[in-house]
Amino acid sequence: MAEIDRYRLADRRAIDALYRRVFGHDAADANRFRWDWQYARNPNNPSGVPEIWVAREGPTIVGQYATMPVRLWVKGQEVYGSWGMDVMVAPERQRQGLGEILFRTWDQNVGAALGLGLSESSYRLFKKLKWPDVGPLPCLVKPLTRRALRRPSWPMAINRLVSALTLPLVLVVSRTKPLVAQVEPIRRFDAGFTALWERLTPKLDLSVRRDAEYLTWKFIEPPHVRYTIVALKREDRIDGYVVYRHVQEPRGRVTLLVDFLTDPDDEEGFKTLLRWVDREARSADSDKIRAFAMHAGFRKLMKQSGYFSVKSTIDFTAKINAVEVGEAFYQHLENWHVTLGDSDQDR
Ligand SMILES: CC(C)(COP(=O)(O)OP(=O)(O)OC[C@H]1O[C@@H](n2cnc3c(N)ncnc32)[C@H](O)[C@@H]1OP(=O)(O)O)[C@@H](O)C(=O)NCCC(=O)NCCS
Repeated sequence: MAEIDRYRLADRRAIDALYRRVFGHDAADANRFRWDWQYARNPNNPSGVPEIWVAREGPTIVGQYATMPVRLWVKGQEVYGSWGMDVMVAPERQRQGLGEILFRTWDQNVGAALGLGLSESSYRLFKKLKWPDVGPLPCLVKPLTRRALRRPSWPMAINRLVSALTLPLVLVVSRTKPLVAQVEPIRRFDAGFTALWERLTPKLDLSVRRDAEYLTWKFIEPPHVRYTIVALKREDRIDGYVVYRHVQEPRGRVTLLVDFLTDPDDEEGFKTLLRWVDREARSADSDKIRAFAMHAGFRKLMKQSGYFSVKSTIDFTAKINAVEVGEAFYQHLENWHVTLGDSDQDR
């Protein structure tokens, strides 16, 4: 019978070997590269001891649940929660109930249990446990060139035809528009960003606390990706930011709009940031911009700026334990702020 307890320093090699067996060599190498930053340097884990639960059978590790602790704003209060990620059970021990015990142990130890981008098996397990399914995380795309609507699954002839037919629309939505507020590239999040977060909390029902410390760790310090960040400034006040990067995908180049924050009612401010990203995407020769956004206010402004809703690939589950929220909380997601920058989705 397996025993579940917290991660110890001496477990690192055995967990790495198990990760290799479950997820393969490439994923294990990438995980190793991120590990210190992701688990030991998270500012929401001041003890420095990774928030990982381990399933042991004698000296052997047969499973783990690794998480990313965050401070979560939930309807007017801050609770300690965590994103669940990298849950795994040794192949020969799967489908014997160990995963369920790991999920429940994590849940019993956190004020809020959050999951983004689930695998088929973990999605089914969340369903079996009857955790609130609040996904998928809405996905939006802004086409910039006629290659934007291509799909790897379509034959080339179909892709060419779609590109030709949609070209007039793409030319309209991708027009350059002028910027109307000051936008400035930054390499540091300072106290002005914490002040922005604190000003905006009354407008949000759920969001990870996006203060300067968290933003620095999440978007400036990661070893595996390099982001570009710009701030929206009015006089000396920080009124918003956006985080993005450009990637090459099989059918073209994509600018990922990874994370952002402004007042959702600040139409001029948010649209200015979107226009900045448009220009950057165009100068990076991107075919489209892709974003994930839960908040209905931001999505509305994105649609007015040429973004279209497309099918999302990211499932989302959230279970609030520390405060009583009631069932309706999970049905009204308009003011939840969740993006691709949350959890460790952008790897
Ligand atoms: C996800 C995982 C940790 C679950 O652990 P587990 O010990 O197999 O889970 P349990 O035995 O407690 O399974 C309970 C339920 O999970 C779901 N489930 C687990 N594995 C599944 C699979 N391969 N296909 C479909 N459903 C699955 C089922 O609902 C199952 O209930 P059932 O057996 O009554 O049908 C394990 O399957 C795993 O390591 N998967 C590979 C890695 C992975 O995908 N991690 C998730 C990353 S987000």
